[in-house]
Amino acid sequence: MKEMPASHAYRLLEPGPIVLVTTALSGKVNVMTMGFHMMVQHAPPLIGCVIGPWDRSYGALRESRECVIAIPTVDLARTVVDIGNCSGEQVDKFKKFGLSPLPARDVAPPLIGECLANIECRIADDSMVETYNLFLLEAIRIWTDPDREERRTLHHRGDGSFTIDGEVVDLRKRMVKWRHLPA
Ligand SMILES: Cc1cc2nc3c(=O)[nH]c(=O)nc-3n(C[C@H](O)[C@H](O)[C@H](O)COP(=O)(O)O)c2cc1C
Repeated sequence: MKEMPASHAYRLLEPGPIVLVTTALSGKVNVMTMGFHMMVQHAPPLIGCVIGPWDRSYGALRESRECVIAIPTVDLARTVVDIGNCSGEQVDKFKKFGLSPLPARDVAPPLIGECLANIECRIADDSMVETYNLFLLEAIRIWTDPDREERRTLHHRGDGSFTIDGEVVDLRKRMVKWRHLPA
């Protein structure tokens, strides 16, 4: 084993798919890219998200207490990186990147029509925002596009390179201790 810097832990662990986060404040919608997120609880479903004060989205989320987590697929890879390299402070990213805002049901920020899935979220706990920029969000409603052919999500390796979903290994029969989990 060769040692690597402990500060690179995120490069090994950065877990789920890279996502987009939409926010809305005073009628102005915005979108950012986010890699630092994790599931925290099954029910109610809680998602931990690190969104920092260097993002315009941070203030919008703190104030409005709502966002949508949109899950893009590989066809949007370049757009996802570009969205994370410019700010809603300067540009209307929905317009610039040709994204279609669709109305959400329970929150003001829009769903993104070009994404595989969209999760409407509300802040459940912001007690760790001051210390870690960590928002605990509750998933209120989920929308998916069943007709979409491209379903491969992107997984950030922490340095601007990504792996793309591949083979599925189905071991559901072995999950004997966890049968109660929803299929
Ligand atoms: C691949 C990638 C992953 C990112 N992950 C995060 C993240 O987890 N948390 C965060 O605060 N910013 C993250 N960013 C940075 C924001 O997306 C970036 O600062 C963006 O410009 C913020 O947009 P806004 O100012 O319009 O809110 C990421 C950027 C990229 C390209």
